[in-house]
Amino acid sequence: MKQATLAIDPASRLADTDRRLFGSFVEHMGRCVYGGIHDPDHRRADEAGQRADVAELARELGVTVVRYPGGNFVSGYRWEDGVGPVGDRPRRLDLAWRSIEPNTFGLNEYMSWLGQVGAEPMLAVNLGTRGVAEACDLLEYCNHPGGTALSDLRRKHGRAEPYGVRLWCLGNEMDGPWQVGHKTADEYGRLAAETAKAMRLVDPGIELVACGSSSSTMPTFGSWEATVLEHTYDQVDYVSLHSYYDPQPDLSVPADLDSFLASATDMDAFIDAVVSTADHVGAKLRSRKRLKLSYDEWNVWYQSRFTQPIEREFMTAPPLIEDDYNAADAVVVGNLLISLLRHADRVGVANQAQLVNVIAPIRTIPGGPSWRQSIFHPFALTARHALPTVLHAELSAPRHHTRRYGDVSDVDAVATTDAETGELAVFAVNRGREPVELAVRLPDHAGGWTVEHTELADDDLTAVNTPEAPDRIAPRRHAPTGTEAARHTAALPPVSWHLLRFTR
Ligand code: AHR
Repeated sequence: MKQATLAIDPASRLADTDRRLFGSFVEHMGRCVYGGIHDPDHRRADEAGQRADVAELARELGVTVVRYPGGNFVSGYRWEDGVGPVGDRPRRLDLAWRSIEPNTFGLNEYMSWLGQVGAEPMLAVNLGTRGVAEACDLLEYCNHPGGTALSDLRRKHGRAEPYGVRLWCLGNEMDGPWQVGHKTADEYGRLAAETAKAMRLVDPGIELVACGSSSSTMPTFGSWEATVLEHTYDQVDYVSLHSYYDPQPDLSVPADLDSFLASATDMDAFIDAVVSTADHVGAKLRSRKRLKLSYDEWNVWYQSRFTQPIEREFMTAPPLIEDDYNAADAVVVGNLLISLLRHADRVGVANQAQLVNVIAPIRTIPGGPSWRQSIFHPFALTARHALPTVLHAELSAPRHHTRRYGDVSDVDAVATTDAETGELAVFAVNRGREPVELAVRLPDHAGGWTVEHTELADDDLTAVNTPEAPDRIAPRRHAPTGTEAARHTAALPPVSWHLLRFTR
């Protein structure tokens, strides 16, 4: 059998595990909000129309921060439409998704729903069709205590205390020609810098994210970040990255599973490239500040199957990109989380896109059940079990060839620890097609270690969860074992994801 080794030294700290790495994203798109989170006719809906079963699943998923309200949607959004008495709110055209936006769910509903889920807000301002004034207005409405028109409006809407929203995105994917209000890097950089400056005058305690590239395949990737950051470096805290991994990017040729399974190597390279660009700009500006990265959209998305619905009628909550995720997709998502953790020294925020129905770990049927997709499980287990410190762990593993990424390691892994208890949690994947035996070299401990091994794998890589069989793909817990020696060997079947917890 193929052999791999992971050597763990608890003293080799890489970074703190930022809980914001386990973020998600709710966009007014398709049935994410309407028919997903919000379904007033559902038997589990609360007084505000929010489905309790969906909020419970989001809590179980362990999401820590939720980006809202878009996405492409935000570039044409007027936040004022979504506050105040629901009966007075306007219906509008949403040009991003060719939808009718009823505005029955807005800022205050989002904030109280976040309270149910136990997650932090992350708001995006519209820098597509709007600018500095509207961004400052929204911030004043959210965070100013009172005594001004907009803070008093919030109070009139039933919320006396300021929300204290800390994380703010300065627009969304402004490099994308599809964006309503798309801009050049100079146009966006200037607008983002001025918006950031003014927003900090409203509330100096906020953290700001400048838009990086919407994908590393954009023709402007690299130069976009460099130009935008030359304008905004001193004003922002994060630069964003987005990437979606398509199991079959070209529908005219058979799917290339080996390359898809190695998607995390692309995430690794993308992060490294954006860090280099940001540090290059910092060096040019003689700045001692080091920017962090906000990976605020990432996931598996069968994007090639989706075409923009430019022909159809405007509709309310049309089902859009409701991908069914299989066992292979879950392994890739687990690996992307390993990559994010391994870059915890520079990636401070990450949001899986999206949360419900739209390329999502949670699915619903209007008026019917909700269920966990396969990708729910690696996310929930990583969010629950990642320990406070990420370690530099030495991995040696066999390699195999992929068409898209060349030679890649069969195994990928990251180790986390709790310095107080000495506990360790290792997340690992076998992204090759042959079984691998992974030897984990542990710190010496006189009493030995107790090992809990949870595995996600399936002989049928195409199997998915459905309302009829919601647990077809679910993690399997092996019986705990003890190990006397400072070494534990785990069998990693082909295409599998693993959590190994070591306690003393
Ligand atoms: O998450 C779906 C869409 O993908 C978002 O609206 C956009 O930001 C990205 O292109």
